[in-house]
Amino acid sequence: MVSAEPHIVDIPKICDPRGNLSFIQDGDKLPFEIARVYWIYDVPAGRVRHGHAFRSQSELIVALSGSFDVVTELPGGEKGKFHLARPFEGLFLPPMVWREITGFSTNSVAMVLSSELYDEGDYIRDHNLFMTMSRHGKD
Ligand code: TYD
Repeated sequence: MVSAEPHIVDIPKICDPRGNLSFIQDGDKLPFEIARVYWIYDVPAGRVRHGHAFRSQSELIVALSGSFDVVTELPGGEKGKFHLARPFEGLFLPPMVWREITGFSTNSVAMVLSSELYDEGDYIRDHNLFMTMSRHGKD
């Protein structure tokens, strides 16, 4: 079942004196099956990534290293902000959530699990269009 609200998902953490280990696998509390993984890194200070919504794909964003903020806007206009800094938690984002990733710390790495293969047609990159679609339904 896909939840309609962005929320933090706990990821298993295996603590070990040699260093900790976390993992994600299909069937483990993730609200979707993983079709694609990508990661964002080497972000210069002050730059913003994302700045779009998706028509149908869901994502889980994990701060593998460092920290950043994910600023969200729901179709009803409600705004949220999630500070990600721990590799054992992820932010679940369902479709039709406008999102921007800001405040990247030095050497941060954002890993993103997606429910779909890359498809430019799934992007809503125009915020005015996002607001119009939010008001009228995405079809
Ligand atoms: P984009 O999704 O716009 O970046 P951001 O995560 O900041 O929103 O992607 C930037 C470029 O990379 C764009 O030209 C599309 C390409 N791209 C792929 O080819 N495959 C992918 O899986 C992703 C996420 C992006």
